[in-house]
Formats: sequence, C-alpha cells, structure tokens
Amino acid sequence: MSKQDSQFFNIFSLVLGILIVIAILLFALARAVGRDTQNAHLLLDPKYVADVEKNLSTGRVAVAGRDNSGLDIVPAAGAIVAELTIPTDGIGVYEQVCGACHLNGIGGAPRSDDRAAWAPRLAQGKPTLYKHAIEGYTGKGGVMPAKGGRTDLPDDLVKAAVDYMVTKAQ
Ligand code: HEC
Repeated sequence: MSKQDSQFFNIFSLVLGILIVIAILLFALARAVGRDTQNAHLLLDPKYVADVEKNLSTGRVAVAGRDNSGLDIVPAAGAIVAELTIPTDGIGVYEQVCGACHLNGIGGAPRSDDRAAWAPRLAQGKPTLYKHAIEGYTGKGGVMPAKGGRTDLPDDLVKAAVDYMVTKAQ
C-alpha cells in the first residue's frame, strides 16, 4: 500500500467511525424522545381508543350491585340469534358444559376420572356436591362457576350431570 493509500484509508475509517457514532447517537436520541411522547400519542389516538373500546365491549364484566344493563348483548337488527340448546340429560349437560373443564382438568377442575381428586369430594356427600355445582363453589383448586356457567339450566339437570360425573369418578 502506498503512503497516500494508507492515509486515505485512515481518514476514510475515521469518517466512517464518526458516522456510525452519529447514527447510534441519533438512534438513542430518537428512542429517548419517543419514549416520552410516542406512547402518549399512540394511546390517545382516537382510532386506537375506538379500537380498544370496541374490544372491551365484548369483554365487560358485570359488577354486583351496579346497573349492568349497559352490558346486555343487543343483537344487530335482523341477526339470527342461535339459542343455546338445553341438553336433556346429565350426560348431555356434562358433554356440553361441565366437560369443558372437568374432562381435562382445566382451571383446577378435578378431572372426572381422577378418583384420588374426587374421593374427598364424594365423602362430603351428594347434597353438598349438588349445592356446589348449582350455586358455584370456590375451593383450593379454583373456581367452580354456578351451574358451570350455564345458569339457564334447571337444577335437576345439573344434579343429573353431577350424578353422571360421580359415576365416572368412582
Ligand atoms: C369453568 C370451569 C368449570 C366448569 C364449566 C364446570 N366446573 Fe365444576 N369445578 C370447577 C373447578 C375449578 C372445581 C374445583 C373447585 C375447588 O374445589 O377448588 C370444580 C368442582 C366441581 C365439583 C366438586 C365440588 C366440591 O364440593 O368439591 C362438582 C360436583 C362440580 N364441579 C360439578 C360441575 C358440574 C355438574 C358442571 C356442569 C354443569 C361443572 N362442574 C362445570 C370448574 C368447572
């Protein structure tokens, strides 16, 4: 390499280095500025707010003792609303409702075929199991919602479902 070449190379590297440092500084600056302003802008963006509002509208939770009428699901005009069919026997209820949790132990539910988990529960006696299934129950395992969340089911069907579940656990 000639002397001139190496001189050019040194200066070129220096300039390149300085440019890289500047680029990194700009990047850091942009991040710092963005941290304070970007998020606020994003969160206040009307379109974003409308989106969040829309998503929330399907997932609102009723609060006990308050007016929850705003949560009622109003079907759009002309929409065909499929009624949830009410099963006719314990097995049907189990398959349609209870199995969602009890088949595989979702959410801490005792699996229907887990005898060890059911033994102490069966020992409480059927009336208690019926009561817990119908009114809901929170134990160490988790939350058993009233009637498995299908409060439209008649008590007798829930009892039949308990009976069916119990036969699987024995
Ligand atoms: C969302 C999930 C879920 C659904 C759906 C569900 N259960 Fe449960 N169930 C649970 C959990 C969790 C427990 C355990 C509660 C505990 O002991 O911590 C439980 C416990 C029980 C128990 C035992 C209560 C006790 O006293 O030990 C019975 C009986 C029962 N469920 C019946 C039913 C029936 C009948 C249905 C359907 C109508 C049903 N469950 C649907 C989650 C569910």
